[in-house]
Amino acid sequence: MNYLDALNKRYSVKKFDPEKKVSTEALFHILEAARLSASSLGLQPYRLIIVQNAEMIEKLIPAFYNPSQISTCSHLIAIVSKKKIGSEYIGNYFNHISETRAVPLESLNPFQVSISNHMERLTPEQMTIWADKQCYIVLGNLMFAAAIEKVDTCPMEGYKQETIDDILGLEVTKEKVAVTLALGYRSEEDEFQNFKKVRKPTEKLFKFI
Ligand SMILES: Cc1cc2nc3c(=O)[nH]c(=O)nc-3n(C[C@H](O)[C@H](O)[C@H](O)COP(=O)(O)O)c2cc1C
Repeated sequence: MNYLDALNKRYSVKKFDPEKKVSTEALFHILEAARLSASSLGLQPYRLIIVQNAEMIEKLIPAFYNPSQISTCSHLIAIVSKKKIGSEYIGNYFNHISETRAVPLESLNPFQVSISNHMERLTPEQMTIWADKQCYIVLGNLMFAAAIEKVDTCPMEGYKQETIDDILGLEVTKEKVAVTLALGYRSEEDEFQNFKKVRKPTEKLFKFI
């Protein structure tokens, strides 16, 4: 599908058709868009939890302020951001670059030192803001890929942080849910699909200089 058609057809679904499940093939295409996402310094300070088990989705319902999407979706993706990036994580990253690109680790040393110094200087608050920003790039790519795969989505920040982290069994000193994305297929009863898109006109949104 043409990507502008896909973006026009997508909307944030409020109620999915609970009978329609996203195929494994479509799911993996969409997830590949997350894997290929760009991230600051290439550090990918996140992981994705894909909730496909119906009982687990049920358990998550109380974590959401509006349960209509979560109780009808096919899958829920929780994008989990890291709260700390230490020397071990950075070391693994550089080993990975060295192996993947077949370059000596030593040649990467100046870059590794500068990244380590930079990450060490971040306060916990700066770290959270930085890591969460990277998660939203993943979110955007997931939503875009899903639209092209004709899979419907709803991005959701409307959840209780402690509850969702707890249900997903996260070690909260190390990570937290940054944002979630419900996947599925729109219900015919979802009236939101008939609403016109509300977007700023080009002249208000873009300035050419
Ligand atoms: C980061 C983010 C968080 C959102 N959180 C919620 C949410 O918790 N619940 C919800 O119903 N919609 C949520 N939305 C959907 C927005 O309200 C929606 O994208 C916006 O109104 C534009 O409408 P559209 O996506 O249908 O085109 C969220 C969207 C984004 C991008």
